[in-house]
Amino acid sequence: MVAIGKIEANHEGVTPVSAQLAEEPVTLLQFARSAGRNMLEVIPAETLRETYVRGPLNIHYICEPEMITELLVGQGRAFPKAKFTKDIIGSAVGNGLILSEGEKWRKQRHRYSPLFAARNLPVLARHFAATGIEVADSLAEHPGPVDVAQVAPASTLTNISRVIFSGNEEVSAEQIRVGLIAYFNYISDLSLFDLMGLPKWLPRKKWLSSKAPVTTMRDLARQVIDLRRAESRDEPEDFLDLMIEALKSDFEDAETTVDNLLTFVVAGHETSANALAWGYYLLALHPEMQNRVRHEIMSVRPDGPVEYSDLENMPLLRAHIKETLRLYPSAAFFARDAGAELDINGVKIEDGDALFFPVYSLHRNEKLWDEPDQYRPERFLGGTITRGQYIPFGAGPRICIGAQYAETEIMVLMASVLRRVAFSLSDEPLPEPVLTFTMRTSGPLILNASPV
Ligand code: HEM
Repeated sequence: MVAIGKIEANHEGVTPVSAQLAEEPVTLLQFARSAGRNMLEVIPAETLRETYVRGPLNIHYICEPEMITELLVGQGRAFPKAKFTKDIIGSAVGNGLILSEGEKWRKQRHRYSPLFAARNLPVLARHFAATGIEVADSLAEHPGPVDVAQVAPASTLTNISRVIFSGNEEVSAEQIRVGLIAYFNYISDLSLFDLMGLPKWLPRKKWLSSKAPVTTMRDLARQVIDLRRAESRDEPEDFLDLMIEALKSDFEDAETTVDNLLTFVVAGHETSANALAWGYYLLALHPEMQNRVRHEIMSVRPDGPVEYSDLENMPLLRAHIKETLRLYPSAAFFARDAGAELDINGVKIEDGDALFFPVYSLHRNEKLWDEPDQYRPERFLGGTITRGQYIPFGAGPRICIGAQYAETEIMVLMASVLRRVAFSLSDEPLPEPVLTFTMRTSGPLILNASPV
């Protein structure tokens, strides 16, 4: 597989890079080899053309909006997350919100939902805006080629440090930074298919043997929580304060709190960073749209920190981010294990079957979208999208708890940067989308940055 994505001419310039899915059935060995490196290579390309594909063994690939809604929101809403998801990310996030089930999940969801309420977003947006200004200054002062696949995770890492790990004298910022980077490198190597019921003789990844980055990060998280608890601030100033506040009236044991803190760190870092990187790329590909978005931002907040309340006046930027998450959904694939026998629109599902939601294919499915591979942000300006057809944050009771947090973070960072910096394509080859833990770029994504 070459590392250069497909580029074709279209009436507005070029078609955004896309992934090469599996045109031929894959053998078990090919499956194991490719899946660890890029899971998109083993998802059947047929899922781009058909809305339901019966896979081998007990696998169902589902891109039919009605079926998706029935399985995530309706009859299947309590089906557990696929066991292999737990085997893999469980090592990094323990038994926090993202992986727990039943009563344990319900209690945690209830405990943490208020943290993500709209009333808390202005406080968080202030931290994101501070990062946005720093990133914009740095890019404007150093014009030229820039790897946005590096800039984006650096921005979201800074945000995490600001909203969760700031203000500790006993635990240094550098300790946290180094700990987080090692922890994220560990997670980057996790592949959703690595452990998926494959025979023991197939090669396994190194990460299974060394969990040191996780242990270190758990120790740091425990210290940071204890220190902040002891400080007892009057008004919540960041995400960690909000977490501690929520736990005052609804107790959970210390290890579950560490699990949840790391769950939020993991779930929110790379996912938002990917959207930012692909979002900059799409605007470089569509300079006219980039100018329109910049004009909108300048008319709302020409300088100073972008505020949460500004975002409602930036519909074009919001539509751009929605379209970015359609073409490049960070969570490009997720799955459930069927917990009962079901018949949905004539499709028979047996208890224990694997229900795969290939979001990448759903978002580019020929039967569901006009010009599915083209960047058309206007899809999200006014028109209605069928329920179950666009699910970058999932759907139903397990929908992403951080969806508004993520949207706020991405919009604030992008608005802050686009005011100061213009992006254009460079001569460097473009990476393609690859899916391991999240869907990211296969390598550097070099754009030219110039001050506005
Ligand atoms: C662009 C950014 C993001 C994307 C695309 C995304 C996507 C998703 C998706 C698709 C799910 C559902 C998975 C499933 O049903 O199996 C999910 C769940 C979750 N996400 Fe996000 N996410 C993003 C950002 C965040 C952020 C910023 C946070 C927290 C700060 C977060 C925390 C969570 C948690 C805790 C869950 C599990 C919820 C539950 O099971 O009750 N996510 N996310």
